[in-house]
Amino acid sequence: MLRVNQAGEYGATRIYAGQLAVLRANCPEAKLISRMATQEQRHLKRFNDLMAERRVRPTLLEPLWNVAGFALGAATALMSEKAALACTDAVETVIDKHYGRQLDQIDDQDPELASDIAQFRADEVEHRDSAREAGAANAAGYPLLTATIRACCRVAIELSKRI
Ligand SMILES: [Fe+2]
Ligand SMILES: [Fe+2]
Repeated sequence: MLRVNQAGEYGATRIYAGQLAVLRANCPEAKLISRMATQEQRHLKRFNDLMAERRVRPTLLEPLWNVAGFALGAATALMSEKAALACTDAVETVIDKHYGRQLDQIDDQDPELASDIAQFRADEVEHRDSAREAGAANAAGYPLLTATIRACCRVAIELSKRI
């Protein structure tokens, strides 16, 4: 769980880095995204610390998520500001379900981890809702774009669990 979660939070920081590299620094979308990126940094740091404490190795795919995350962020931001938000909408939809399933699995076996996941999940849902409120659905091709990104996230999750 720690390995896949750390990979996901790392990927999130790379997506936002790609978006912020492309978006005009003072547009409302960039401001929203930098706020979310700060929270992703906090999520990532916590999973990094837990992995070190519990001697879990990171996924071998980290170099791939470095490049793929940044590319996804940059590509969606190049499409439009709203497409950048649609990317957050799609990613956080998958992450909400992923963290929800983990919480069901953990049950009462690991309260420390469960409490972190529950907090981060609330942040991710807030990211998803802010992106929607800021007009993610107005992105051109929203249904296909978000379905594609959701499918990519699911594949990334499965790979990071295994490798
Ligand atoms: Fe996160
Ligand atoms: Fe997030």
